[in-house]
Amino acid sequence: MIDIHCHLLPGIDDGSSSIEQSLQMAKLAVADGITHAILTPHINPGRWDNSTALIAAATEAFRAALGAENIALQLGFAAEVRISDQIFQQLDNGQIPFLGELDGYQVMLLEFPHSHIVPGTGKLVDWLIRHRIRPLIAHPERNRELMQSPEKLLPLIDQGCLAQVTGASLTGRFGEGSSAAAEFYIRKQVISYVASDAHNTSTRPPAMAAARQIIASMVGADIATRLTVDAPRQLVASQFAAPSHA
Ligand SMILES: [Fe+2]
Repeated sequence: MIDIHCHLLPGIDDGSSSIEQSLQMAKLAVADGITHAILTPHINPGRWDNSTALIAAATEAFRAALGAENIALQLGFAAEVRISDQIFQQLDNGQIPFLGELDGYQVMLLEFPHSHIVPGTGKLVDWLIRHRIRPLIAHPERNRELMQSPEKLLPLIDQGCLAQVTGASLTGRFGEGSSAAAEFYIRKQVISYVASDAHNTSTRPPAMAAARQIIASMVGADIATRLTVDAPRQLVASQFAAPSHA
């Protein structure tokens, strides 16, 4: 499986707090059947001031540490970008790394606050789409407004957003509201990806296999494989392209 959203990099957000923990998380990921992890630290102005250059350097260091420990987890990187009016500036400055490219659009992992949908979200999405950036909404099922009214996501999907459910929502980690919303999205097929959103080794480990199984029992193994393997692979393909020898 290919995990397009996780916080394995040590010390740069509220995910892993040390290189030791990061290595343990990588081992758990491999044991769960994850072959590729896209490291997506938070970018949240004033709270987590990460940027493309910083995340790239941290990924490189972590890749070397994995190599030294013979842990077979392939790494890529992007970021989980908190919705704010600073996104325009961050994009202008090249501070936001993308997950990959699909049909001429750069795909950006976009995080809403947990409480509600910020007024103006639709306008921001319009602007991004016009600028060939496709937002991939992180775990809509964990947003309280969407938990209450999951169908409020649909206009954003119609505008061109993609969306990702967090595996642990399906296994009940975030309560009944988010597991019900996650199931609604899976059954309606408005979700394109499932990811771990791992933050640590204990309460939020890198795990996708259990969710894949639940999805298979809900809507069939083909869709479960598409959400955890095929669609993520296509999205991040450019991050793992073989180097050219031309
Ligand atoms: Fe996250």
